[in-house]
Amino acid sequence: MARQCIGLDIGSSSVKLVQVKLSRKGMSLQNFGIEPLPTAAIIDGTIGDPNAVAEAIRNLAKRIHLRGKDVAFAVSGNSVIIRRLQIPAMEGAALAEQMEWEVRQNVPFARDEVIVDWEVLVERTPEGQMEVVLVAAKREVVEQYMQVVRAAGFNPVVVDTDAFAMQNAIDSVDGLVSGETVAVINVGAHFSTISIVRDGKPVFHRNLSSGGDTFTEAIRHRLAVSQDGAEAYKVGSAAGAGAGSAADVVPQEVHRVLAQVSEQVSAEFQRSIDFYVNDAVDANLARVYLTGGSALVPQLPKAIQDRSGVPVMIFDPFSKMSVDARRFDVEYLRANAPVASVALGLALRAPGDK
Ligand SMILES: Nc1ncnc2c1ncn2[C@@H]1O[C@H](COP(=O)(O)OP(=O)(O)OP(=O)(O)O)[C@@H](O)[C@H]1O
Ligand SMILES: [Mg+2]
Repeated sequence: MARQCIGLDIGSSSVKLVQVKLSRKGMSLQNFGIEPLPTAAIIDGTIGDPNAVAEAIRNLAKRIHLRGKDVAFAVSGNSVIIRRLQIPAMEGAALAEQMEWEVRQNVPFARDEVIVDWEVLVERTPEGQMEVVLVAAKREVVEQYMQVVRAAGFNPVVVDTDAFAMQNAIDSVDGLVSGETVAVINVGAHFSTISIVRDGKPVFHRNLSSGGDTFTEAIRHRLAVSQDGAEAYKVGSAAGAGAGSAADVVPQEVHRVLAQVSEQVSAEFQRSIDFYVNDAVDANLARVYLTGGSALVPQLPKAIQDRSGVPVMIFDPFSKMSVDARRFDVEYLRANAPVASVALGLALRAPGDK
């Protein structure tokens, strides 16, 4: 079996590295770490400060004694377009030509500005149609990420998207089974993505501009504190209560703000889900997987569950992995599990994968 890549998730708030080993006995954790990024290092899914990002990757790799060079990374946000298309069933050159036309119809960038990939999901429906997922990423952004990965001393060998990496992670841990439709909501710092996966295949994808920053900003305005102060209140509110714990010093108002923003963000998620559900044939969601660092906002899972009427599970990428408790701080892994999802999905890729 080919050796796995190092999974590198460059998010707007931090860089995450995950390395796993796959064997007949299953998956085992080889390495993991998170390194914060300065504000404006990543701006709207593009790299604002290449030196800062490369330095964060280098520092993190050194700190966790990372071995290996081949990296899988992901692009996300507005520079990535994902569309599921239904077209008349065809193959070979006719299909390639049709897809070129679809790129021009569906991608809001010039053809020579994007890198395009597509995969047939359904060869032929009973109605003689076929279903294809089209992915286009801005070439400039992909190249920018590659340069940063190289500047950090690694070989970028696989390029993926956040959404597909996440889907891969969930599939490897929980198994996305046939006959089931699930929603995957990744709430990061700067934005969120919703993917709907049916029979293990992506059927719908949307980016939303709310994320962890939406909660922090609300606290900042309502309590008139600095951004760092607001962030500390937010993260502190999730800490377990008890004498002397961080949760004790968080004002009640913070919990109210988090609850309100959770409501507002859930309503936004639900509008996207409804958009899909309203014109889908079989749209009963079995569950919602919630991931990304903001899955740790205590009020959010319940708000989404109440709004959608569907069970919400916080995805834990480490749950089925063997973890050597002598090498890793298991508490730290548990506390940061949702943050690591995309990086795990990337760590499952092998060099030479498309
Ligand atoms: N314990 C916690 N409680 C509440 N929020 C948290 C906690 N830990 C992390 N977060 C929030 O999660 C967010 C970071 O999540 P994540 O690492 O998934 O985002 P990112 O990948 O850096 O950003 P993006 O994907 O939006 O570019 C931040 O907004 C952070 O404040
Ligand atoms: Mg992210």
